[in-house]
Amino acid sequence: MKRLAGEIALVTGGASGIGRATAEKLAALGAQVVVADRNGDGAEHVAQLLRDGGSAALAVMMDVTKRESVRAGIERARTILGPITILVSAAGWDRIQPFVENSPELWEQLIAVNLLGPIYVTREVIDDMIHARRGRLVFVSSDAARVGSSGEAVYSAAKGGLLSFAKTLARELARYQITANVVCPGPTETPLLDEVRSSEAGAKIIAAMTKAIPLGRLAKPEEVAAAIAFFAMPEAGFITGQVLSVSGGLTMVG
Ligand SMILES: NC(=O)c1ccc[n+]([C@@H]2O[C@H](COP(=O)([O-])OP(=O)(O)OC[C@H]3O[C@@H](n4cnc5c(N)ncnc54)[C@H](O)[C@@H]3O)[C@@H](O)[C@H]2O)c1
Repeated sequence: MKRLAGEIALVTGGASGIGRATAEKLAALGAQVVVADRNGDGAEHVAQLLRDGGSAALAVMMDVTKRESVRAGIERARTILGPITILVSAAGWDRIQPFVENSPELWEQLIAVNLLGPIYVTREVIDDMIHARRGRLVFVSSDAARVGSSGEAVYSAAKGGLLSFAKTLARELARYQITANVVCPGPTETPLLDEVRSSEAGAKIIAAMTKAIPLGRLAKPEEVAAAIAFFAMPEAGFITGQVLSVSGGLTMVG
């Protein structure tokens, strides 16, 4: 059933992994999808696949850490498809390394991609949502934000900031019928996880986490995308300021 017909969804990080699976899911539900990514070729590839499947989809090259790039990308999407009604902030990046070994450049990069990026993108779409008096914001954080994760101190801090950002937006924007919710994936089979696993320390941490997952395996990107899409659905209209883990039971937060 085309439950999201008439919606225009922008998915950052839509060229790969969880963002890509989300773009596919939202398109299958009938939304027009803007696949936004700093990897322009990857975004175009996903948008073309969606168009081949009969959906209206647009690729936009966007580096979420650069305000000008975000502005230009959203403007292009608005001109071609119309104002964004669903924003999924999935672009993210991580490097596993003990905090004492981190360089200040790494801190800045982690915060820029994982926290400032979603702030910039939200700022660019929010006026249209306020004007329309409707909208859905879904942020992809991480269970590292909820319970901490060795080797991910600053990544966890940035992802934790995203939880607070979303909850505060949920309060400020409720009067406009705009909801803001967060999905926290546990370890998920994506190219990012492969990158993390490529270092010895990363491989050890992922192996230990996998063993600790009650459901006994890593998540598939589609399983995270299903939770993200839920928050965009009409049925979720009374849910705001919430955080949902998709982690096979690895984390159970009250
Ligand atoms: N895979 C996991 O185990 C896991 C666990 C918890 C949280 N997450 C989060 O899920 C989200 C998606 O991760 P994934 O595993 O699918 O990763 P991925 O690497 O497969 O995809 C991330 C996408 O984001 C894009 N991107 C990165 N930096 C960008 C920037 N500055 N501007 C625009 N696009 C940018 C990349 O080009 C890529 O297409 C991220 O926010 C990540 O932190 C992933």
